[in-house]
Amino acid sequence: MDIASIARLLLDHYDTHARRLPWRARPSETPPEPYRVWLSEVMLQQTTVAAVIPYFEKFTRRWPGVEALAAAPEEEVMAAWAGLGYYSRARNLVACARAVAQRGGFPDEEAELRKLPGLGDYTAAAVAAIAFGKRAVVVDANVERVVSRLFAISTPLPSARKEIRARADSIFPEKRAGDFAQALMDLGATICTAREPRCLLCPLAQHCLGRATGDPAAFPVKPPKKAKPLRQGAAYWMERDGAIWLVQRPARGMLGGMRALPDDGWKASTSGHGAPPVAGQWRRCGTVRHVFTHFTIALDVLALADEAPILPTGAGEWWPLNRLEDAGLPTLFARAAALARANAVQTAANRSSPIDASGAITQTDRQISCE
Ligand code: ADE
Repeated sequence: MDIASIARLLLDHYDTHARRLPWRARPSETPPEPYRVWLSEVMLQQTTVAAVIPYFEKFTRRWPGVEALAAAPEEEVMAAWAGLGYYSRARNLVACARAVAQRGGFPDEEAELRKLPGLGDYTAAAVAAIAFGKRAVVVDANVERVVSRLFAISTPLPSARKEIRARADSIFPEKRAGDFAQALMDLGATICTAREPRCLLCPLAQHCLGRATGDPAAFPVKPPKKAKPLRQGAAYWMERDGAIWLVQRPARGMLGGMRALPDDGWKASTSGHGAPPVAGQWRRCGTVRHVFTHFTIALDVLALADEAPILPTGAGEWWPLNRLEDAGLPTLFARAAALARANAVQTAANRSSPIDASGAITQTDRQISCE
């Protein structure tokens, strides 16, 4: 690859294709005010360009400069920020504006910018490059994608970040680093997109090692998915006079405070069940598998099958079966309930004609005795 020609090719492309965005200067114009660059970059860490534009316009109309923002009551800024996500960023925004107003303006060095409240590596580099024309290596998710493709970096993320940064450093030009950073961002947003890179439109296509592999979308390489641990548990279906026994889950913990079928706790156990809520004959209805963020649960659903069962007492409620949809059961328990109901229908049908041609019904209708 001819590294020396990358910046020229991309900057030429940017000169004619740069997106027009309210916080940007056109390539030939003087750089925008640091306040506008900083404000837009903080906002762009939260969400997409399209979502940021109205917020940016609202903020700059109301607080046209850093001094105006520094003088604003924090609650007003927080209210204007509502909808953009993380309030801690809005709080930092005010803190940063006040620090900048106090020191009489933004510093123009990346290292000094990095010391301001809420400015991380990315924002400090972006402001130094875009607002002050300094050579700073600006790496956001779009730049990361473009660079990992350009160099076909095969190390998976997040370990690849060091190499991506070093490769980005090798292509950032001494002059126009801010335009180059934004050209990489535009390329990532419009051409070198995550799913279907449009290599035919790319000014860097002939230099791109990722393209040469035939599968540029494979970069950046994702980390292998961690196998989720499997937990096992049981949920209990107890029916009486057209009502079902539901409990409220403890406020803290998984699905906290939600209405649910009683269960055995499915804590860290990976085999067997805890004790059912009452002694009796429990019929196994089947198993619901459900994937949570950190583990998969295999929840066996057991229905109380005694003719004259001992019924539960204590914290819980009999909920009308014909209004079960209104109970607000979380998905795991809604699926468990659906399984128990389908099984009850099957079991009733089975009683009137016990042997199904396939034998499938009698298989699910196993009795488990619990004392
Ligand atoms: N994403 C973050 N900063 C950006 C910028 N300056 N232009 C376009 N997209 C961006």
